[in-house]
Amino acid sequence: MENDDIERAGRLILASKYVVSLTGAGVSVESGIRPFRGPGGLWTEYGEPPMDGYQRFLADPKADWERRIKKEGYARELYKTLSKAKPNPAHCALAELEELGILRYLITQNVDNLHRAAGSEKVAEIHGNFSKLRCVQCNTRYETEEISLETLPPHCSRCGGIIKGDTVMFGEPIPTDVLKICQEETGKCDCMLLVGTSAFVYPAAGFPREVKGKGGVLIEVDLYETEITPFCNISLRGKAGEVLPQLVECIKVKLQETGSPL
Ligand code: APR
Repeated sequence: MENDDIERAGRLILASKYVVSLTGAGVSVESGIRPFRGPGGLWTEYGEPPMDGYQRFLADPKADWERRIKKEGYARELYKTLSKAKPNPAHCALAELEELGILRYLITQNVDNLHRAAGSEKVAEIHGNFSKLRCVQCNTRYETEEISLETLPPHCSRCGGIIKGDTVMFGEPIPTDVLKICQEETGKCDCMLLVGTSAFVYPAAGFPREVKGKGGVLIEVDLYETEITPFCNISLRGKAGEVLPQLVECIKVKLQETGSPL
């Protein structure tokens, strides 16, 4: 990856009105969390999970909760890694970009809570958050420790609906409240910074395509070529934890030269 690609990306970002970032598993790989696809991916090893996980949950929520509590197979490995993971320089760079007033919103497909842990505040977790629970009826979120597991499945204190993990299951509709935010932010976006996503799973994969379709700019940070690479104005090839700090540094230098947009 050439340095002038970073320069060009910095210029494009500063010339944009409303920058939104879409991140995927690749942004957390340097925090020790495996991606899903490509080298070292969970699904590369175990195969893509069946698309009816949510339907199976609804058919027998008690049994699903018992499996969740037992945590077998890769779910156990993933939960252990998520619980001890810390933000890496990529998460910190995106939080700094928000603090500088450059990054207006961050849509993440990750459930690892690392963007918030790094200090990002304007975050939409489109696939949920592993540390939370959610009522399937009214979308109320709960901290895990708030809910007693005496009886399974637990029920929502507000509406009586069934409570499940906040992480969106395969086959589960994206919760309407977070989907609305993602759609609104994508609607306002004229430059999308894609970090560590194969841009394969919808509806998230549709957001960059929508931005491109209305003449917006796409900048990608990824170790490898992806399905969205051909649509990107710039593709910064490298590790997110190395590329993003360079991009933020370059933007800060330009802001000093031309004055901050804040
Ligand atoms: N730096 C930058 N990019 C990286 C790095 C890294 N260190 N390591 C891997 N990548 C890239 C890979 O090349 C790939 O393009 O990150 C991307 C990860 O893609 P996926 O594993 O498919 O993750 P993601 O795009 O987030 O998947 C979307 O699929 O299974 C569902 O719910 C799951 O949210 C997930 C969704």
